[in-house]
Amino acid sequence: MDASLFQSRHEAFIQQAESALRRLTPTAAIRPARLHAAMRYSLEAGGKRLRPVLCLAAANAFNPQADAEHAATALECIHTYSLIHDDLPCMDNSDLRRGRPACHKAFDEATALLAGDALQPLAFELLATGYAAQPALATALIAELAKTAGSTLLVGGQTEDMGGLAAGADAERLEFILLGKTAAMLSAPFAMGAMVGGAPPADVEHFRQAGQAAGIAFQLVDDLLDLTADATQLGKPVGADAQNGKLTYAGLHGIAATQLRIQSLTEEASGHLQACKADSMFIRELVFRMATRKH
Ligand code: IPE
Ligand code: IPE
Ligand code: MG
Ligand code: MG
Ligand code: MG
Repeated sequence: MDASLFQSRHEAFIQQAESALRRLTPTAAIRPARLHAAMRYSLEAGGKRLRPVLCLAAANAFNPQADAEHAATALECIHTYSLIHDDLPCMDNSDLRRGRPACHKAFDEATALLAGDALQPLAFELLATGYAAQPALATALIAELAKTAGSTLLVGGQTEDMGGLAAGADAERLEFILLGKTAAMLSAPFAMGAMVGGAPPADVEHFRQAGQAAGIAFQLVDDLLDLTADATQLGKPVGADAQNGKLTYAGLHGIAATQLRIQSLTEEASGHLQACKADSMFIRELVFRMATRKH
């Protein structure tokens, strides 16, 4: 895909995601002001907006029967909550996020905990109200996001991640962590976007699988960047995984093997997308760029 066409479509999706986020989430004008200020602080801190953009782009690849903005915003709410909690002193104890002080530093620990708590039901409220006119779609989206954010995937992955290397350098456990803490929340935007796009079930499944492969690659890149990038470029601390004794793919299998796996996962994702009757050119380019990103 032509680089400038990709760039302009990508920027348009980011703007759409950010304006939906501002429109659909409560501001500090609503009581309790400090809680809503903390939620908006973390939501508005920037970030790549990858999950909402993937959701909007996945819907666009088909024939959207509904607006994908509520689903996109719901995904960013869950993702942002996971980052707020991930940075807390009882988890990764990280003070910098998205180039700014982490939520618990800008506010306080209790407020950060509660802001993360409140972002979770907000996500499901957005799905229930945003797709009320299509109850079957609403139910499918809620089920998809609930499963993704739950104890077997996002929270499960985070739980096993906390054990770090101390719990054993076990390749099978690492795969559970990668799938749960990261790939699930990157797979869901593909599947949810395809659902909003009215894709047939086989294509929703291809999109889900594409997101899973791209999502594992995404965490492998995150772990490499933690070793090689700088904090200004990343907007979060570097060297944090070694400091926290984390079990990572690069740590277990080496950098060369990590790079090879990123490449093969990216090809796998692209194959799934190409297997669908969809206009997947933009999203395939985005998957490729996720694998070669520098922040
Ligand atoms: C960070 O995700 C957490 C991981 C799953 C590695 P992103 O790198 O997408 O973070 P933002 O949204 O751009 O801040
Ligand atoms: C990301 O893992 C997992 C979630 C936030 C759910 P990391 O702990 O590696 O993410 P960063 O590096 O802090 O963004
Ligand atoms: Mg973590
Ligand atoms: Mg972390
Ligand atoms: Mg990391």
